Amino acid sequence: MSHKIQTLSGYFHEYQKSVAQPEEFWERIAESFHWRKLWDKTLDWNFDEPKVKWFANGKLNITENIFERHLYTKGDSPAIIWEANEPNEPNRIITYRELYELTNQFCHALVDNGIRKGDRVIIYMPMVPEAAIAMLACARVGAIHSVVFAGFSSTSLSDRIIDCGAKMVLTSDGNYRGSKSIPVKAVVDEAILNTPSIEKVIVLKRTFEEVVMKADRDLWWHEAVAGKSKDFTAVETDSEDMLFILYTSGSTGKPKGVVHSIGGYMVYSYYSFMNVFQYSQGDIYWCTADVGWITGHSYIVYGPLLSGATTLMFEGVPTYPNAGRFWEIIDKYKVNQFYTAPTAIRSLQAFGLEPLEPYSLQSLKVIGSVGEPINEEAWHWYHDHIGKGNCPLVDTWWQTETGGIMISALAGITPNKPAHASLPLPGIQPVIMDTEGNELTGNNVEGNLCIKFPWPGMIRTTYGDHEKCKKEYFSAYKGMYFTGDGAKRDHDGYLRILGRVDDVINVSGHRMGTAEVENAINEHPKVVESAVVGYPHEVKGQGIYAYVICDMEGRTEANLIEEIKDTVKKIIGPIAKPDMVQIVPGLPKTRSGKIMRRILRKIASGDISNLGDTSTLLNPEVVDDIIKGANLK
Ligand code: WT7
Repeated sequence: MSHKIQTLSGYFHEYQKSVAQPEEFWERIAESFHWRKLWDKTLDWNFDEPKVKWFANGKLNITENIFERHLYTKGDSPAIIWEANEPNEPNRIITYRELYELTNQFCHALVDNGIRKGDRVIIYMPMVPEAAIAMLACARVGAIHSVVFAGFSSTSLSDRIIDCGAKMVLTSDGNYRGSKSIPVKAVVDEAILNTPSIEKVIVLKRTFEEVVMKADRDLWWHEAVAGKSKDFTAVETDSEDMLFILYTSGSTGKPKGVVHSIGGYMVYSYYSFMNVFQYSQGDIYWCTADVGWITGHSYIVYGPLLSGATTLMFEGVPTYPNAGRFWEIIDKYKVNQFYTAPTAIRSLQAFGLEPLEPYSLQSLKVIGSVGEPINEEAWHWYHDHIGKGNCPLVDTWWQTETGGIMISALAGITPNKPAHASLPLPGIQPVIMDTEGNELTGNNVEGNLCIKFPWPGMIRTTYGDHEKCKKEYFSAYKGMYFTGDGAKRDHDGYLRILGRVDDVINVSGHRMGTAEVENAINEHPKVVESAVVGYPHEVKGQGIYAYVICDMEGRTEANLIEEIKDTVKKIIGPIAKPDMVQIVPGLPKTRSGKIMRRILRKIASGDISNLGDTSTLLNPEVVDDIIKGANLK
């Protein structure tokens, strides 16, 4: 079975076929999987409701397509290679057969503790193989997993538990992150004080520090699996049943639960993985993301394992114990495909070339980038010093909602162009729209990026609120999925992503809604009103700049600024902590009371020329006050 495109003409051929006959195109790929019952209708859709069903009424279990399908040929080959945070802690190499048995044992633990098909299970875990086992076991018993990045606060965790009505949390005692050890179980304890839906918490021992275990609710992972059978018959699911919910930020104040369904996601994560990375059997593939993000779902766990690949999982951070850690791991395991984020590249670039010296990096065949636009300087550094000038660099554009990579070069097959995601994958029909709703055809055009035809890996709904899904993604342009990104098709026909056009900022590849950060800031008792914008940040891509009106009585500015930063950290998590907080006397508003973010963005980026016409503002004088007090570089 291989659906790997081999040549440039092969790409164009497949692409044309996928547009002319999308159903036949995807059927041919889906047929290579194991279905307990084949589907009746390949695609049933309209983007108005929206309704999207792929492989309707097909019956399957996604994990049978990871385990049963591969065990015969790959039982003894490594599925997961795990590298611990501490370089001297022994690694773990888990074969497909071992992963199958560990997953089955954990299926019993789930079922014996009350989990049934359709139940929601929260996974709040470190980067250890058990996180992948937890996801796979949920999928195997037909439960819906929702992985929450273990850096989120107890409030964020609690909100997600309540939104999806989860019955169980899977977690660990603590997490290792570089030189730190983070007490995660304590965060869970706080989060579930007011979440009556949670019945059980299963806790993996990782750091062996002391935690409080509540009788009848909390149990240890090792005890939950002790003596359990290594066989478990996968539960039959429908192609359109939910596989997982993943919360992500948007332009509203609350994260939304993006829902992916089983059949389409399976086909798309596999197909995109094989083609973008040009994976060959036996290759060692490494994606540095966290399983708490969509990249970890699609390109650490599902895509690679559905392809029978060896996927490397790293617990730690790029700079611990030193800035050579990534390069050391690449040489240690002879990694062939390496997939990371521009922010990691930029932060490592800052250490110069010395940390690279001990390492050859010769095993690398393909390098990849994801999460945010990669600037040309970082692109060249990555290409020249990591790829040694002879690895294709795939700049992969996609989103939590798209389930898999949408626009990217196929490594070594389609051309590479610095800072350009380049061409759509077969089956993906991107269009550039102007603000009046016209499609901009031809080259050298710039506008808003939409997708005009369904693909198997796309979002199905937002959990518990289908209207929200419709409003966020299918209302801006009739009959189209709107991405929230701006894009340009250049004179050669290659796509370049220009960044978000909505109120979403991208901090180190992490998506934050400005409204979400504002809501958190406004929780501080002294805060009257706030406005948050993104500004260019050398390492993070974008930083968070908060303008805050405060009641200053009894406080100094410096104290308040620290307290506000801490409030955000506590309410959302450290990733949302503002880089800059400026106390302001007022916020520039239109006569209808709308905050003029355009002006605030300009001031935050240090560009005070050309602020545009401010005379129509309700309070034009406030602009000068803000400029005077701004943290201008
Ligand atoms: C947003 C999606 C895709 C998984 C990780 C982030 C930005 C993502 C690129 C890229 C330019 C990119 C977009 C997108 N983005 N990849 N290669 N070039 N921008 O997933 O949290 O859902 O964020 O990340 O703005 O909309 P996410």
